Order: sequence, then structure tokens, then C-alpha cells
Amino acid sequence: MIKGFLFDLDGVIVDTAKYHFLAWKRLADELSIPFSENDNERLKGVSRMRSLDIILELGSLNLSEPVKEELASKKNAWYVEYITNMTPDEILPGALEFIQQAKTKDIKIGLGSASKNAMTILERLKITNYFDAIISGNEVSKAKPDPEVFLKGAEALELAPEECLVFEDAKAGVEAAVNGRMKCVGIGSKDVLGAADAVVEGLAAISVTAALNV
Ligand code: BG6
Ligand code: MG
Repeated sequence: MIKGFLFDLDGVIVDTAKYHFLAWKRLADELSIPFSENDNERLKGVSRMRSLDIILELGSLNLSEPVKEELASKKNAWYVEYITNMTPDEILPGALEFIQQAKTKDIKIGLGSASKNAMTILERLKITNYFDAIISGNEVSKAKPDPEVFLKGAEALELAPEECLVFEDAKAGVEAAVNGRMKCVGIGSKDVLGAADAVVEGLAAISVTAALNV
């Protein structure tokens, strides 16, 4: 029986991909690497350092670890500038209502995000208090599709993995849920998220009751 929901953040509760794109694009331009919105799709759900590696691959650039750390920090400083101005209006349609509905049914609410900026984003959206557990990129050492982030989320909610349902928009995230023996609702397209137990366009398209029955 499902007793807890574990939400990915970026792409499920809020669309931060546009801010990641602006910051990565600024860095790519500085490095004279061609980087399009289409390329940005490959960075969804992927950790900051892996995202940088993908961009450097696009430019066939091979850089040392210290230089890469510097570039990633630079990108993050720009990204933080962009998300600092976020407001609750940017919560994706239906997400807040879905979480509120779950709360009325005593379902525990957890966050399982790869982002080290997850807390800042939740604060800006004014939704931190809805979460019984928050696992962000600062608490994990293995990136999705490793299930670590969701297993830690389940543990923090004091639930077994089988009692948790994950909501994910990235292929690697759906795989992380499956690898953690958790059911998963994919947010996006069936073509990409076929491994999920159900796929919907967004949280506005599914009720808590329907989610509990996937
Ligand atoms: C994920 C995003 O949630 O977080 C990725 O989908 C991003 O695009 C990753 O790279 C890491 O984010 P941050 O904020 O730690 O750089
Ligand atoms: Mg995501």
C-alpha cells in the first residue's frame, strides 16, 4: 500500500530547465561551444558535473578537474542569480493542488532531487513546509539512475521503498525509481518514460486517487 509520495523537483514541480539553459548557454558561449535548447534536453535529471561533461563533449574540449570545478561554479553562480527571482507563480499547473490533496489523505510527502539548489527553490516557491523529508543533491553521492536519492527519501519518511510512489520527468529518474523497487508516475512523454507505471503530461492531469492506483 502506498503511504508516501516522492517528488522530483525540476520538471515535476517547477520548470527550472529554462534557467539551467540560460546559465549553461552563457558558459557555452564563453567557451565557443554550440549549445541549443535541443542539447539542453540531454541535461534533464543529470548532475551538474555530468551536465558540464556533456557540454564539453559537444565542443570536443578536454579540461582538467580543477578547471571543470571552476566552470561548474561559474555556471551555478549565474543559475542561482536566475532562481533567486523565482516566485510561487512558477509552480507548475496542478502541482500544489496535488500535494495539498495528498496531505488531506495523510500521504507523507518527500523530495528526491539531484539539485544542490533544491532548498533555495522550495523556499522561493514557498512550499518547503509541505515536505516531511527533503533529499537534495547535497545528500547523495550517486546520481540517478542510482536509486540512492529515493531510497534515502523513503528512509527519511520512515517507509519501505514499496510504500512509496515516485513522480519523475527524467528517464534516469524513472530508472532510479524502478531500481529502488518503487512504483513511478512519469511526467512527460511515454516515448521517453516508458519504464514508468503510468505517464501523464503533468500533475494537473492526474488525481491522488488515480495515482494511488497505478
Ligand atoms: C536536476 C536537473 O534536477 O538537477 C538537472 O534536472 C541539473 O538539469 C541537476 O543539472 C543538478 O542541479 P544543480 O542545481 O545542483 O546544479
Ligand atoms: Mg526532473
